[in-house]
Formats: sequence, structure tokens, C-alpha cells
Amino acid sequence: MKILLTGGAGYIGSHTAIALREAGFEPVVLDNFANSHPVVMERLAHITGQPFQLEQGDVLDTPWLEGVLRRHRPIGVVHFAGDKAVGESVALPLKYFHNNIGGAVSLLRAMETVAADDPAVAPTLVFSSSATVYGDPATVPITEDFPRSHTNPYGHSKLVIEDMLTALCAARPVWRVGTLRYFNPVGAHPSGLIGEDPAGIPNNLMPYVAQVAVGQREHLNVYGNDYATPDGTGVRDYIHVQDLAAGHVAALKALLGRGESFTVNLGTGRGHSVLDVVRAFEQASGRPVPYRIAPRRAGDVAQCWADPALAMRLLGWQARHTLDEMCADAWRWQSGNPNGYRS
Ligand code: NAD
Ligand code: UD1
Repeated sequence: MKILLTGGAGYIGSHTAIALREAGFEPVVLDNFANSHPVVMERLAHITGQPFQLEQGDVLDTPWLEGVLRRHRPIGVVHFAGDKAVGESVALPLKYFHNNIGGAVSLLRAMETVAADDPAVAPTLVFSSSATVYGDPATVPITEDFPRSHTNPYGHSKLVIEDMLTALCAARPVWRVGTLRYFNPVGAHPSGLIGEDPAGIPNNLMPYVAQVAVGQREHLNVYGNDYATPDGTGVRDYIHVQDLAAGHVAALKALLGRGESFTVNLGTGRGHSVLDVVRAFEQASGRPVPYRIAPRRAGDVAQCWADPALAMRLLGWQARHTLDEMCADAWRWQSGNPNGYRS
């Protein structure tokens, strides 16, 4: 029942590791800690009362990966590892093509090689894709058959990996691949012991709001209030990371059971504006979140939310947590760990 989680010490991977263990799987965390902290492993052990197996290394190292797969013989792999900062990807496109696309190629080749020698290691993969592959959607809610496009190298890398997986499944029907397009993951584990720990100034809304509420930043810049949305600010489908973690468990169960590959949205099907998030966070934290209206951020879309019906139909999964719960859990993590894992 071993499942290998590349990038398993990261934000979404760490929550998924717990959900997998709670569902009876044996997660093995693989990470090079490029964007995470080894203390995560202690927190995971503390939450579940049992240590987690760790393989520290780089997914770009194919021979090493083969060794990891041969040692653990996982029945499935979840591929979280990669870089994810949109702005950085515009400045450093090769970093993104190398680590994201190169990392995926390395993993797929290692899985292919090991599966050819060892029938216990079936090539079963869950891949972390993103709503970013929908570019600027013509309408909402977004279904999986919407046209895909990219507006930055990060999004481009996700698109290329999706296409690689489609080609691989067509050529080699033994592969079982679940592609999960996450909308906007937020929140933290209810223990308050693990959560999102962005390096430097957060690019994304919820961690920025949390740092304003805890007093680390003076105010939030609201990027535009003249969008064609109810209050003029951008609308997104925020999804609790715990719901996302449950989505990975459901995806693995579907792949290991029915065995057909799929691509699904993981979102709530509801949109919330920037000001909705500010209000909900103030309510959850009991702290003010001062904000100023700033110009629109380049590349932002007015609104983006999922039609999550296919995930319900194929995986029996749906998001359960409300925006208030997302804010309450994000606040518990932020206030207990004002400097993240360095607190
Ligand atoms: P994260 O940065 O917290 O986690 C990624 C982990 O991968 C980190 O622990 C990092 O150290 C590790 N890693 C990076 N490169 C590696 C390499 N070459 N070898 C081994 N480990 C490596 O990010 P996250 O938010 O948990 O995102 C996980 C995945 O989900 C990413 O692929 C990301 O693109 C995707 N995604 C995230 C979001 C989001 O908003 N968080 C939205 C959509 C999709
Ligand atoms: C971002 C990424 C996207 C990724 C998604 C996943 C960018 C441009 N896009 O999308 O590729 O798939 O995260 O979570 O980074 N906002 C503010 N002030 C801030 C920060 C954000 O007003 O300081 C607004 C934004 O304009 C947007 C909303 O908050 O309307 C959400 O922004 P953010 O959290 O960055 O997510 P996305 O832009 O949806």
C-alpha cells in the first residue's frame, strides 16, 4: 500500500501525506526541500503519532529515483514536486522548464523502467496540474473540456506535462494517470501544525492576508476593483487544502480500482471575491485586515471557478469546507507559526 509522494514535504503534499495515512496507505515522502523545511517531517509524525519515511533527493536524478522505486515498490506515485511561482517563471523560464518538465520526464522514465522489471510497481500516477491551464476562460464555471492555453512559463510547463501524459497513456495503455487541476488551494491542517509557508513576500492572496492580520505587513493591496464582478474585485474558487488532500486519496482509489485515466477539476464550484476573503479573514481572526485599492495585476483574470461535477461523478469526491473554515484554519496556522516553519 505504499504511495510515493514527490514534493511530499510541500504545502499540498504534506496534507495529502496525512490523508493517505488516515485512509490506510503508507506514504513515502520524497523531497529535496528546495521549497520546504525538514521540520515538516517532525510535524507530520506528531500529528499522526508515527514517523513518515523520507527519501531526500531530487526528481531530476533519474538513476536515484529508480533506486527509490525499486526499494519501496509503491503501488502509486503522486507527483507534486515542481516550482510554482508565476512571476519567477517569467523571469527564469528555464528554471521552470527544467525542474517541472524535466522533473516529470525523469519520474516517468524511472517509473517506466522499474515497472518493466517489477510487475508489482504498476505505473500509476496522480499529477498536480492547475486551473492555470484554462488561461483566461471565456465563461464560468469551467469544465474540463474548456480550451487550454498559457500566459506564463509556469502555466506552459503544466500544459506540456499534461500533453506528455496524454501521449504516454495513448502509447502505453498500462499507464493509469489521474490529472488533477487544482483551483486556489488555501487553509491549513486543523492542528495548526502544518500549512503554507511561502518564502519572502507572498504572491497569493490568502497568505498575504494572513500576514497582514498577524501584523507582519501593513496592508493588503487589492489588485483592481473595476472588474466585471459583483464588487469589482477578482473572483476565485478557493478550496481548503484538506479537501484537496481528500481529492488525492479519491483519485488514487479510482485509479487503483477502476483503472481508467482521467483529468478532473478540484474546486468547490463557488467563487469568492478578494473583499469576501478579507471580510471572512477578519471574522475568523478577530483582527482588522486594512487594504488599499491598487492597479490590476498583469495577467489576472476577472473570475475563475470550477464546475466540479466530473470529480463527483468519477471519484465520488466533493469539497466540503466553507470559506470561513479555510480562513479559521489558515489563521490557526499563521498565528501559531508567524514565521512559518522557522518560527
Ligand atoms: P510547494 O512548493 O509547497 O511543494 C512542492 C515541493 O516540491 C516542495 O517541498 C519542494 O521542496 C519540492 N521540490 C521542488 N522541486 C523538486 C525536485 N526537483 N526534487 C524534489 N523535490 C522538489 O508547492 P505546493 O503548493 O504544495 O504545490 C504542489 C504542486 O501543486 C506543484 O506542482 C504546483 O505547481 C501544483 N499546484 C499548486 C497550486 C497552489 O496554489 N499551491 C495550485 C495549482 C497547482
Ligand atoms: C495564482 C496563479 C495561478 C495559480 C493559482 C493557484 C498568478 C498570476 N497566478 O492564481 O497560476 O494556478 O494562483 O493558487 O500568480 N490578489 C490581491 N492582492 C494580493 C494577491 C492577490 O488583490 O496581494 C487578488 C488577485 O488579483 C486575484 C485574487 O486575489 O483576484 C487571487 O490571487 P492569487 O491568490 O494570486 O491566485 P490567482 O491569481 O487566482
